[in-house]
Amino acid sequence: MADNGLMTDASDVPEVRLAGGVAMPMVGFGTWPLRGHKACEAVRTALQAGYRHIDTATMYANEADVSHALRDSELLRQEIFLTSKLRASDVGRPREVLAGELRALGTEYLDLWLVHWPPRDARASVQVWRELLTLRDEGLARAVGVSNYSLAQIDELTEATGEAPAVNQIHWNPRRYDAGLLEGLRLRGVVVEGYSPLKDTNLNDPVLTEIAWAHSVTPAQVVLRWHLDHQVAVVVKSADPKRIAANLNLFGFSLDADELAQIDALAAR
Ligand SMILES: NC(=O)c1ccc[n+]([C@@H]2O[C@H](COP(=O)([O-])OP(=O)(O)OC[C@H]3O[C@@H](n4cnc5c(N)ncnc54)[C@H](OP(=O)(O)O)[C@@H]3O)[C@@H](O)[C@H]2O)c1
Repeated sequence: MADNGLMTDASDVPEVRLAGGVAMPMVGFGTWPLRGHKACEAVRTALQAGYRHIDTATMYANEADVSHALRDSELLRQEIFLTSKLRASDVGRPREVLAGELRALGTEYLDLWLVHWPPRDARASVQVWRELLTLRDEGLARAVGVSNYSLAQIDELTEATGEAPAVNQIHWNPRRYDAGLLEGLRLRGVVVEGYSPLKDTNLNDPVLTEIAWAHSVTPAQVVLRWHLDHQVAVVVKSADPKRIAANLNLFGFSLDADELAQIDALAAR
């Protein structure tokens, strides 16, 4: 099925509703550590393959390349879901950084803006969260959230402002499966978005290869589908056109409860 270079119809990619009603495609195209021509080429290929959610960050320094690919695609701005992230070292000046980010990306707004890592000082964390909410209310980002935050750090933000982050983007893959964390984020209304789904996964693990064989897909596709079947959004990067396409081609199969449980159990090994 899916390790060929077939395009996926963008409308087949499920969306998740973030707090506030913004719809986010559940598979995003990761752009780290791509820069320059490689970044532009990969994003262009991803858009052609059907991705409509692109993940960048100030830290990645590839906004101009992403912008170039978006322009070349001739897609309308509202057809794209664009995420960027504020470096922890920039938390003292979010307005200025966001203005630069929007300029570099050639857009008037982000769909999702995340604090990339929690600042060490909890007061700075609450302060920057307040400012993100203000910038969102001004229309510069449709939704705001965090990345790499613990439940306790999320609770601090919510208690101080009455608003939880829309998303927590976290390192997630079968070996990191943690039902308690997923449930904790769900109870708080925070959508979980996993990054580095494949990089730290043993794609030769017999659990994954056997499930892949049963569905005529690749182990990488099984891992990505496992995210979706747990209602976890996923950001995946590739610079290889075939893998870019295959990583989005996830909608001709799904995992049953037994298969999900086998993959969940990889975390206990
Ligand atoms: N919030 C954060 O702190 C944070 C941290 C890290 C990453 N991220 C975001 O998440 C995105 C994804 O994470 P990541 O890039 O670290 O990890 P990843 O997407 O899990 O893995 C990327 C690596 O896997 C390879 N790959 C891709 N598809 C494959 C496939 N089907 N089969 C085998 N290998 C495959 C890629 O090589 P090829 O390019 O050669 O295909 C690349 O080496 C990043 O690009 C970034 O946007 C966020």
